[in-house]
Amino acid sequence: MAADKTILKALAGETQSIPPIWMMRQAGRYLPEYKATRAEAGDFLSLCYNSDLATEVTLQPIRRYGFDAAILFADILLLPQALGADLWFVTGEGPRLSTITDQAGLDALKPVSDIHETLNPIYQTVRNLASALPRETTLIGFAGAPWTVATYMIAGRGTPDQGPAHALKDEDKAVFEGLLDRITEGTIEYLSAQIEAGAEVVKLFDSWAGSLKGADFDRYATAPTQRIISELKARHPGIPIIAFPREAGDKYIGFHAKTGADCVAIDDSVSAEWAAEHVQKDGCVQGNLASSHMVTGGDALVSETKRIVKAFGNGPHIFNLGHGITPDADPDNVQRMIDAVRGA
Ligand code: CP3
Repeated sequence: MAADKTILKALAGETQSIPPIWMMRQAGRYLPEYKATRAEAGDFLSLCYNSDLATEVTLQPIRRYGFDAAILFADILLLPQALGADLWFVTGEGPRLSTITDQAGLDALKPVSDIHETLNPIYQTVRNLASALPRETTLIGFAGAPWTVATYMIAGRGTPDQGPAHALKDEDKAVFEGLLDRITEGTIEYLSAQIEAGAEVVKLFDSWAGSLKGADFDRYATAPTQRIISELKARHPGIPIIAFPREAGDKYIGFHAKTGADCVAIDDSVSAEWAAEHVQKDGCVQGNLASSHMVTGGDALVSETKRIVKAFGNGPHIFNLGHGITPDADPDNVQRMIDAVRGA
């Protein structure tokens, strides 16, 4: 591990005059070279499980832009699949899964020790990347956080308000909490295997954390995240971890301390100035340019980028978007953002 990697310095708490930068969904459909490799693979899941092609798409944005980090190409829904859920993607609509709504569904899941059988190609992708990446580039592994993964396993699809998951939580707490526990245990094993294969940092995506309110947020977003982080750090001392409780709002405050995360990723529903004052005082933050600027570009892209760099300039910061880049983004706008961050 090169001690001079800028991402690792930020995660260790160092303030840098130019923050390191990477981008959520940096390997994705806005890039023509991604679309070409995706077509070669067939469908999205075949791409995830093809270690050679998944390595290739992970490297594409590194070659094109020289980002400071590469994120493993995979998906948060591979873990449910490894636990025995059926998973498929409907073009233009998104993921579909078999649903879990009762004890029988929970009992039918595979034991956590069986997940590696399905996920071995993902670990191979990590090993490929660990040897293929430039020495200055940090390799990030990831998984979904338990609540977000559970929302898909319960509803069988993405939902605007996570209604089915909230309903199960309120109607059958034993099944809901049993499912969350199973996902938590699976996530520990999955991320641990990614770290053993060469991931230098891991990130937990809790994309739907914002729909948990009050004590539910503490119980189902904060607590499982804390459990995963403490177990990973016990097994892999010093492994840096990024937590992303998207749209947590006020609940971003204290999230470093409550979970043990080295870095808290911030979405763009809060201002960088607010997050600098209330969240960055506790440690590294990542974020938080609105991904719409990658579509619209222009002067606003440059001025917003510079505003965010300045707002987070007095503490440890990793520049990123507030959420994933969208397929309608212009690849030239990504370069403009990078130039604005690096001061070119
Ligand atoms: O950041 C990265 O580039 C790493 C790879 C990654 C993907 N998905 C690749 C992907 C990561 C970290 C994810 C996370 C993910 N996947 C989340 C949480 C983060 C978030 O964006 O909120 C969720 C909810 C999923 C589930 C999922 N996978 C959805 C809702 C979709 C969109 C379906 C669609 O048709 O747009 C996917 C597909 C997906 N995952 C794509 C990529 C690049 C698009 C695949 C394609 O069609 O080529």
